[in-house]
Amino acid sequence: MKNVCILVLLSAYVPLSSSDYWAEREKLINYEKQFSLGSKLNLTEKEKRVSDILMTYKFEEYDLGFLNPNDFLAGQHFFKVKDKIEKSKVFDIIQRVPKGSSLHSHDEALVSQEYLYNLTYRDNLYICIEKDQINLHFFRGNNISDSCNWTLVSDLRRSDKNFDSYLKSKISMICNDPDKTYSNSNTVWKAFQTIFRTIGGLLTYKPIFEEYFYEALLELYEDNVKYLEFRGFLPEVYDIDGNIYSKLEVLGMYVHTFKKFQTDHPDFFGARFIYAPNRHVDNATMDEYVNTFRKLRKKYPDFVAGFDLVGQEDAGNPLISFLSQLEELQKMGVNFFFHAGETNWEGESTDFNILDAILLNTTRIGHSYAILKHPIAAQLVKEKDIALEICPISNQVLKLVTDLRNHPGVILIANGFPVVISADDPSFWGSRGLSYDWYMAFMALAGKNSDLRFLKQLAINSIKYSSLDENKKKLAMNEWESDWNVFIEAELQRQYPYDLPNVINVIEIND
Ligand SMILES: *[C@@H]1O[C@H](CO)[C@@H](O)[C@H](O)[C@H]1NC(C)=O
Ligand SMILES: *[C@@H]1O[C@H](CO)[C@@H](O)[C@H](O)[C@H]1NC(C)=O
Ligand SMILES: *[C@@H]1O[C@H](CO)[C@@H](O)[C@H](O)[C@H]1NC(C)=O
Ligand SMILES: *[C@@H]1O[C@H](CO)[C@@H](O)[C@H](O)[C@H]1NC(C)=O
Ligand SMILES: *[C@@H]1O[C@H](CO)[C@@H](O)[C@H](O)[C@H]1NC(C)=O
Ligand SMILES: *[C@@H]1O[C@H](CO)[C@@H](O)[C@H](O)[C@H]1NC(C)=O
Ligand SMILES: [Zn+2]
Repeated sequence: MKNVCILVLLSAYVPLSSSDYWAEREKLINYEKQFSLGSKLNLTEKEKRVSDILMTYKFEEYDLGFLNPNDFLAGQHFFKVKDKIEKSKVFDIIQRVPKGSSLHSHDEALVSQEYLYNLTYRDNLYICIEKDQINLHFFRGNNISDSCNWTLVSDLRRSDKNFDSYLKSKISMICNDPDKTYSNSNTVWKAFQTIFRTIGGLLTYKPIFEEYFYEALLELYEDNVKYLEFRGFLPEVYDIDGNIYSKLEVLGMYVHTFKKFQTDHPDFFGARFIYAPNRHVDNATMDEYVNTFRKLRKKYPDFVAGFDLVGQEDAGNPLISFLSQLEELQKMGVNFFFHAGETNWEGESTDFNILDAILLNTTRIGHSYAILKHPIAAQLVKEKDIALEICPISNQVLKLVTDLRNHPGVILIANGFPVVISADDPSFWGSRGLSYDWYMAFMALAGKNSDLRFLKQLAINSIKYSSLDENKKKLAMNEWESDWNVFIEAELQRQYPYDLPNVINVIEIND
């Protein structure tokens, strides 16, 4: 390592010479500002006007919140403020921003809660309720070869008026009092993983599996996101005749559905897959993962972007316990996108995943929540330009942080780290697309004065740090730029459904 003594957070200090206190203060403030994410961008006159509109609304929300912190939405739990965010003027604009790509989300939690719930109205869906676990599965007629007491969902809906709210509560983490319902990170992860098991048999029914992925792409598209890189473990998919599809066939379903989506929406730029099976396995299973990966990449080299491992990190099997397999993958030239440091612990194996991810030459790091406790690792990700995938709402719901203004992303952003913002598992907490997380990032992670340049840089980063090759990246960037320009023009023409801000000059627009 070159220089172990460099403190990553303190960029070169400018000696202040003026004897005028106010001038020095001004200089210091401005000097510090230039490190923040997005601050290196120069806005055109038109962009500045859009930024001024955005900032007027941002300041309104900040000023309200500063007077009464209960009015500051981004400082509170997402479940409590979601409805209010949907009425926020800042959120309204963020929804229209061309956001580039979504780089961190998971196969079985990609869609909105509403769409997921609607799936339970499909014909032939059966439910069986065991102690702590409910299971869902499609069967034809009564051809049910299972010991479980399967009952038609539609029958229960008819006979029990409370059934709907019961079922809804079983496929969602949303609750009135998240602090009480989920007392710590283990209980919240348990609830989270129970939902994955509950919806497994619902989503892996072949017709739904494909429709679901189509909807996932559509919801991103409607949120002005044009490219997706998602993690998946390729579950067993079944059909009504009892056929089971192999991992390769399941990957083929994604490819097929993506192509169909792109035919319907030719300006959607693309989708790529990161094979991300469960980390809570033994060495033999990990060996199988390596073999599976080999087959997947051979058949779909353009679609498969790389490898990751998922599951609660604190619950074990750090990256290092699979070193030999990961080195084997590395020798095959596989790109890694490791989840690492999604923890509040320091010095536990989870926390060291960050160092192993870097040593293994990871392309990006999922979450990297713990990175600032490792000054050299933090320096290395800057030097090696390893993007950090921050998912603010996920981190809040899964109990790493309560008030997002205390999220380490605040410091990463203030110091211009290569950050992208993503949604992780929007299905389970009622978010949709990227806008909710971008809103939280804009309001809580970036301070009051981060303006449109911050959002623009997030979009640029989402393409820059994607796994696309240099040519495709250039194309994607060009397409995004033209979307961006359309967005700027449209904002300037827009009849805002609310009063135009009067503190700034947005009226005389003539360039
Ligand atoms: C922004 O403008 C400054 C001053 O003109 C220039 O030095 C800098 O390179 C520009 N940055 C970008 C990203 O174009
Ligand atoms: C869910 O179903 C309702 C009722 O049929 C419908 O109005 C709504 O658009 C559906 N939502 C989604 C996301 O499909
Ligand atoms: C099977 O489930 C149905 C509906 O939930 C219930 O009415 C019935 O009592 C259950 N039968 C057994 C044997 O548990
Ligand atoms: C009934 O289930 C069995 C076992 O899953 C399967 O082999 C058979 O094809 C099914 N028959 C029908 C009509 O779905
Ligand atoms: C896999 O094998 C290695 C080498 O024997 C061992 O150090 C590691 O703990 C094993 N991993 C798991 C998850 O058991
Ligand atoms: C590290 O990964 C990059 C791509 O992210 C690749 O170009 C490079 O060859 C890798 N280096 C090693 C030592 O594996
Ligand atoms: Zn994740």
